[in-house]
Amino acid sequence: MPDYRIAWLPGDGIGVEVSDAARLVLDAAGFKAEYLHGDIGWEFWCKEGDALPQRTLDLLGETDCAFFGAITSKPGPEAARELAPELQGKGLSYRSPIVRMRQLLDLYICLRPCRAFRGNPLNYRENIDLVVFRENTEGMYIGVEFPAVPEKFQEVPAMKRIPADAAISIRSVTREASRRIVEAAFEYAVKHGRRKVTAVHKANVLRATCGVFLEAAGEVAARYPQIRFETANIDAMGMWLLKNPLNYDVIVTTNLFGDILSDLCAQLVGGLGFGYSGNIGSRYAVFEPTHGSAPKYAGQNKVNPLAAILAAKMMVEWLGDVETARRIDQAVADTIERGAAKTYDMGGNAGTMDMARSVAEAFQFAHQTR
Ligand code: NAI
Ligand code: MG
Repeated sequence: MPDYRIAWLPGDGIGVEVSDAARLVLDAAGFKAEYLHGDIGWEFWCKEGDALPQRTLDLLGETDCAFFGAITSKPGPEAARELAPELQGKGLSYRSPIVRMRQLLDLYICLRPCRAFRGNPLNYRENIDLVVFRENTEGMYIGVEFPAVPEKFQEVPAMKRIPADAAISIRSVTREASRRIVEAAFEYAVKHGRRKVTAVHKANVLRATCGVFLEAAGEVAARYPQIRFETANIDAMGMWLLKNPLNYDVIVTTNLFGDILSDLCAQLVGGLGFGYSGNIGSRYAVFEPTHGSAPKYAGQNKVNPLAAILAAKMMVEWLGDVETARRIDQAVADTIERGAAKTYDMGGNAGTMDMARSVAEAFQFAHQTR
């Protein structure tokens, strides 16, 4: 009997290839799980009008966690055009499946570690070791948007300053969601021996929303006197991360800022081929490479699967098999350090599956040299 039931959601584009690569490594590591395929992605939007069909949501309810590859999301007009003719004109609107999973399953933590593996030719600096905690359920991504100011809003005095034809996106930040994401960051810091937590905001301008976030962050920080606590403005943080990336450790922030900062942090340690995420709630989690479906590389066995392999490692660790997770991490580190395989982004010509096989071979290597 396998130990775990995992919803396996490759998605589309390079999501399919990097998921295959991650599976190769999981199997080679001897990780025992039952993988249940779930439909997700652009194809299901076009054919069924839903990129995250109900049967896939049901599957999430029956599994311990999910692994998600990547999906294609296109802007509104294109999404409407590509919908099957019989579904057009029915008022269907596209919403990102990953954002929906985060909100529906209350996966409030988006955990994105960014570590410079030794020997990675793409490292911006050696020894970078950052962890981004991004609030994953609210902020700028709640999906409450208006193409023009609704009439009712115009009755509110402050709204009169906004031209009636302005498009509006609502940003909502609660004390509770802020508290729990900052607490998760501090708990992580304690558990992993980290020295500092930096809360990132723009409270001088976004006074209401970032004000709530910052206040909650300060309250949580006061309960962890052993961990240093700092705050930084999002704009300055972009600059400081490039100037002095070694000054940072655990970073915690709201949804949109976290989305942007974590891509920046991923680039410091090699780019999207190395960026991986855990979307983690109190009972369920979805693990994914941070990158998207990269359509121009789809089906070419070309992109770097390490982000997906590291996402699989994080999944194994979250499920409780810490030893297998450690072995996968070590195998990835060995593969990079020895230069055993390099995909195009690393300046080599290894394919996606070559890289996965090199990681799998590194288990053997570790075994022989022990
Ligand atoms: P993307 O992440 O798919 O690719 C951007 C570029 O990053 C690629 O062209 C490639 O140069 C590089 N890249 C990405 N993954 C790589 C890998 N594994 N190895 C080496 N290089 C890699 O982002 P883009 O082009 O903005 O979006 C493409 C599609 O993906 C869009 O439809 C977008 O909506 C969707 N997307 C989906 C996400 C998800 O599934 N979670 C996240 C981000 C974008
Ligand atoms: Mg992103």
